[in-house]
Amino acid sequence: MRIDVFSIFPEYLAPLDLSLIGKARRTGLLDLTVHDLREFTHDRHRTVDDAPAGGGAGMVMKPEPWAEALGTLAEGPRRPTLLVPSPSGQPFTQAMARELAQQDWLAFACGRYEGIDERVYEHAATLMPVRPFSLGDYVLNGGEVAVLAVVEAVARLIPGVIGNAESLVEESHEDGLLEYPVYTKPAVWQDREVPAVLMSGHHAQIERWRRDERLRRTARRRPDLILKLDPGTLDKVDRAV
Ligand code: ADE
Repeated sequence: MRIDVFSIFPEYLAPLDLSLIGKARRTGLLDLTVHDLREFTHDRHRTVDDAPAGGGAGMVMKPEPWAEALGTLAEGPRRPTLLVPSPSGQPFTQAMARELAQQDWLAFACGRYEGIDERVYEHAATLMPVRPFSLGDYVLNGGEVAVLAVVEAVARLIPGVIGNAESLVEESHEDGLLEYPVYTKPAVWQDREVPAVLMSGHHAQIERWRRDERLRRTARRRPDLILKLDPGTLDKVDRAV
């Protein structure tokens, strides 16, 4: 997969050199480039922002550097999907991560300040699909942290990026339930015991216990997710839990 990220703080994306994503870049599974938006300015001060039309607080990102930067994505026959982090975007979910992991080219436009001039989105939409997305109902200073999260959520679904693909199956949000609690050795730690069923070696009982824990935890922490479950996916024991 190819990924292009545009930002006025390219250093913010440095963690994408680390861990499994860094390895995927080095092995060629992920072709990720971070571009400095200021490279697409032509004045002495490399200006990327200006006062909002109509007045008000803060600054707005100017359209010209963005148009030039995004234009570089539309030079060949192929086009990326342009993802724009914004608190007013569509909520980012695991389903969206799965969908994006199927694509072969993604681009991200990181806004700062009060946002990017709206005409940039209209112009970009004439060149490629544009999808504004939000990490959640809170406000960050810019899109960079949101891009770190989305690149990680998407890249780990690309075959080969995670060594143990099985670990993807029972994760939170893959089937609408949260994950079960996990334990490791020692069996007793600070007078707290690993649940006995996990030490029993009885596979069917362990599976049942894990499913029950997932249902209980989801009901307690995320009742909104329980309401969204397809009743057809619940068995008799589930209903009792
Ligand atoms: N930029 C600022 N706040 C954001 C949020 N909540 N999600 C995505 N991008 C953002």
